[in-house]
Amino acid sequence: MARKAARAAKVRSEIGQPRSLYDCPQWYDIVHEAGTAAEVTQLQRINKKYGTGGRRWLEPACGTGRFLRVLANRGCQAVGYDASPIMLDYARRRLRARGLNAQLCPGDMATFVRPRTFDIAFNLINTFRHLLDPLEALAHLNCIARSLKRGGVYVLGIDLVDYDDPQPGEEVWVARRGRCKVRHVMFSIPPERRRRRERIINHLIVDTPSGRSTYESHYDLLSYNLAEWLYLLEESELNCIAAYDFDWQPIDITGYTRDVNLILARKSSR
Ligand SMILES: C[S@@+](CC[C@H](N)C(=O)[O-])C[C@H]1O[C@@H](n2cnc3c(N)ncnc32)[C@H](O)[C@@H]1O
Repeated sequence: MARKAARAAKVRSEIGQPRSLYDCPQWYDIVHEAGTAAEVTQLQRINKKYGTGGRRWLEPACGTGRFLRVLANRGCQAVGYDASPIMLDYARRRLRARGLNAQLCPGDMATFVRPRTFDIAFNLINTFRHLLDPLEALAHLNCIARSLKRGGVYVLGIDLVDYDDPQPGEEVWVARRGRCKVRHVMFSIPPERRRRRERIINHLIVDTPSGRSTYESHYDLLSYNLAEWLYLLEESELNCIAAYDFDWQPIDITGYTRDVNLILARKSSR
């Protein structure tokens, strides 16, 4: 009897609790879609100012394709790849439902390369930090460098850390689509200098006409202080040509910089 109950609980938990935030693409998309069009406008501005201004775009780890939909709608030729088949499947269905065209494929940030193909690539909100091994992070930067056309740029959004002043964080997003309301509460536990792992804990609270569901999951991100980031960049085939804060105001990078959108270009192409 006890064994049966335990098995039932396990099955329930496997059904009700996703292994990761990225097993819930529809909730992720609802809660993070707002603001996407404005971000794309900023990226287009960056493309004109620092890049070729061309129409071939790449989004590594594109998730639900919220950026790709906006780009496709604005006439860009966008390619996105992701490691999660669940996210990709959702992205494909949303594009199709809107009659939009973007190329989607499975791929890993550490290995995906399309030589000299793209005018601009972008990877915002710390997605790059999912690469937990610095060698994979380096491989990713070099894959991007090789995938950019001459004069192309890579826009990379990351948070830098100060190990001497670690800040736990909490962010909340709430959004509605139709009769569905989603609340995403994200806690972060700061990294230790030696392990360089920031723990992100995600709570999703979803209200639909049939009731409330809650999901909890977590993942780790590799952390970078300024010196660790500069070392990685120095080793790579990219360099930094400009920096912006997350509100797209230009900034100089200092030891106090935390959230930064970096504009990177091939070392050899300028
Ligand atoms: C925070 S989401 C970002 C999705 C999308 N770029 C956006 O801004 O909405 C992170 C995405 O990275 C993907 N991902 C994580 N590690 C990856 C890897 N090594 N290679 C490719 N995709 C990865 C996840 O599946 C997830 O879709």
